[in-house]
Amino acid sequence: MATVVLGICGSIAAYKAADVASRLTKAGHDVHCVCTPTALRFVTPLTLVTLSHHPVISSFDEETVDWIPAHIALAQKADVLAIVPASAHTIACFAQGLAPNVLTSLYLANRAPVLIFPAMNSLMWDHPATQKNVQTVITRGNYVIGPEEGDLACGTHGKGRLVDVDTIVSHIQRVL
Ligand SMILES: Cc1cc2nc3c(=O)[nH]c(=O)nc-3n(C[C@H](O)[C@H](O)[C@H](O)COP(=O)(O)O)c2cc1C
Repeated sequence: MATVVLGICGSIAAYKAADVASRLTKAGHDVHCVCTPTALRFVTPLTLVTLSHHPVISSFDEETVDWIPAHIALAQKADVLAIVPASAHTIACFAQGLAPNVLTSLYLANRAPVLIFPAMNSLMWDHPATQKNVQTVITRGNYVIGPEEGDLACGTHGKGRLVDVDTIVSHIQRVL
């Protein structure tokens, strides 16, 4: 059994992270969901805690259960950090080493393999700022899988869709 830290960002694709959490938990892994504050507008902690069997962390204010901050404890326990879906904003934070929330702080403290599964509007993805941030994290050794081309929730067609849940789960399993 491995410890999977599942980072979830503020994207319409965030609901798919619930399926990923469920599949990995059923496969016997210890899954800990860490949400950005914006992710909570798209998916509820109640869903994630029920499917992952572990408390969901989304705010520094919740880190009062133990003396060691949860984002540091989880970073030390992680066998893999998977970001599903990864927003343009969070990828930018990762690239620049910014740590405004629990997930971005955990990224800096983590030394396990990092798998980033982006999802965003195709214009956001194509923007030179996003592309530069993606190259920065790849150069650092993080894996970026997707996005793929398809119909997007914003009503357009292009590159920006989160890769499918089977692909996400199999990439995580392969790294483990
Ligand atoms: C309906 C809706 C859907 C969104 N979908 C995405 C998305 O798929 N990818 C993305 O990068 N940003 C998306 N955004 C914008 C992000 O929520 C916003 O950039 C936010 O600051 C991301 O915060 P986070 O990275 O801390 O989760 C969306 C916003 C709204 C209102």
